[in-house]
Amino acid sequence: MNTFGVAATAPRLLRVHDSQALPAALAHPEVAGQPLITLGGGSNLLLVSDPQATLLVIDDTSVAIIEHRADHAIVRAGAGMGWHPLVMWTLDHGLSGLENLALIPGTAGAAPIQNIGAYGAQAGDFIHAVEAWDRHSGQFQRLLPEDCAFGYRDSVFKQQPDRWIITAIELRLPLLSELRTGYAGIEEQMRADGVTLPSARDVANAVIAIRQRKLPDPARLGNAGSFFKNPIVSAEQAQALLQQWPQMPVFPAGQPEKRKLSAGWLIEQAGWKGYREGDAGVSPDHALVLVNHGQATGAQLLALAREIAASVQQRFGVAIEPEPRLIGAQW
Ligand code: EPU
Repeated sequence: MNTFGVAATAPRLLRVHDSQALPAALAHPEVAGQPLITLGGGSNLLLVSDPQATLLVIDDTSVAIIEHRADHAIVRAGAGMGWHPLVMWTLDHGLSGLENLALIPGTAGAAPIQNIGAYGAQAGDFIHAVEAWDRHSGQFQRLLPEDCAFGYRDSVFKQQPDRWIITAIELRLPLLSELRTGYAGIEEQMRADGVTLPSARDVANAVIAIRQRKLPDPARLGNAGSFFKNPIVSAEQAQALLQQWPQMPVFPAGQPEKRKLSAGWLIEQAGWKGYREGDAGVSPDHALVLVNHGQATGAQLLALAREIAASVQQRFGVAIEPEPRLIGAQW
């Protein structure tokens, strides 16, 4: 149940097919008052030790258009719906917006938590509402985008993991959107595919091809996608680093005085790309992706991640932080 393919055992697994049954399930004597970990596709977590908590899976895979307007539609998906199947479903129904987010592993319910993003788009841009069980108040809440505090790989759900259990999401998707083809590689991929007048589906196909080329398939090689977030530093620090490494990629960070650096580049420069220590390693294709070659434990993968972060810190003076949720350890 984790794409890193790390062996771990939890005391209890609770599967809820209909979120209306969630309050009763949580009130069960073996569950009430006990630690709880909500699991989506298991594609964004590292199990460092056996979780001392009940695992909760919301299995609701329903999807429907709940509102149709002239220029957009609202799609509601149960938390258990796979993200990529949902993206394909929306394209099949003539809706656009999610094409740049094709092939991201995980579930619809997990998408808002770290505000999944790729190729110039992020899920938060399309969230109309998030339906969640609030463990603090013991009630269902319907959160609007402004309640979600979406940021780069961040949200209120990530900040308060013990509070929210997402049961469904609503997406507001345009019938026709301006395609975002600016991210490096998309135009080139479409040209190679012979696409001249791109549709949203063509962009999705290009993104799928790029991801398949760059990122290891978790079904074959255990991984959790990017292991580190791209660090955000002051414009001043970015400038100083550029003096020394003029070829270093630097991106805008949404605030004028901040810049986003490429963790993949920093890690590759520090010599880690393709590195392997036992079964814990760094993908030879993408330095940001830690991989499990077979029997690596969560503790071994975490130890490697710490070595990498320490060497990046030493070489560049930049702190990098994990993107996946760590279970059984603090960074
Ligand atoms: N780079 C290297 N060496 C590497 C990898 C990357 O030098 O081994 C440099 C290159 O300069 C490259 C740049 O980093 O041009 C950016 O690489 P890439 O386009 O692969 O993007 P990324 O910043 O490494 C982020 C997301 C990915 C997402 C891609 C595409 C984060 C932490 N990761 O990666 O998301 O797919 O952009 O938008 O923001 C994920 O979160 O799990 C994930 C895969």
